[in-house]
Amino acid sequence: MAESEQTDTHQQHRAQRTTVILIIVLAILAGAISWYGIRPGNEMVVTSKTPSITSSEDAETIDHIPLASIAVDEIVLPHFEPIMPLGPHREVFMTNCITCHSPRLVIDQPHFSQEKWEEIVNKMVVTFGGHVYKKDQPKIVEYLVSIRGKTE
Ligand code: HEC
Repeated sequence: MAESEQTDTHQQHRAQRTTVILIIVLAILAGAISWYGIRPGNEMVVTSKTPSITSSEDAETIDHIPLASIAVDEIVLPHFEPIMPLGPHREVFMTNCITCHSPRLVIDQPHFSQEKWEEIVNKMVVTFGGHVYKKDQPKIVEYLVSIRGKTE
């Protein structure tokens, strides 16, 4: 074997060894990252160091808090399904009518006629700019009448 060929083989071996070592290091890194990523108790990271913003005053002073101290991995907000009576098209009501205010506003109303509910839904769309498809409006009225309709 010529000397240059020997050097070539030697260099190839070295390159292969470096690649293998690199792969092992990357595998260890990936393992460590995924371990720390899925560690239980990491789902909701709001440590005591995290300042809580409870007033608009706090919100104004938030500028002075270093960003790192309020960094969280993930925030899972709880979902509370509002308690609304069952009725036809309840889900259409839920999709359209609780974005701006609580459904209590509806529950607290007296029993209204269908015309009055149509008027209210129309007001939410025209006056307050609610995004409600035209085709959904009669469905919402039907639901409202079923839970808070006038019983005469
Ligand atoms: C774009 C925001 C918005 C959406 C969407 C919305 N509303 Fe309202 N709603 C308001 C505002 C603003 C008021 C007035 C609140 C107040 O007077 O304090 C209101 C008040 C009400 C009231 C109280 C009575 C009244 O006439 O003011 C009822 C009932 C009501 N909404 C029902 C609904 C229903 C049903 C829907 C779904 C079609 C809906 N809202 C969607 C903004 C909205």
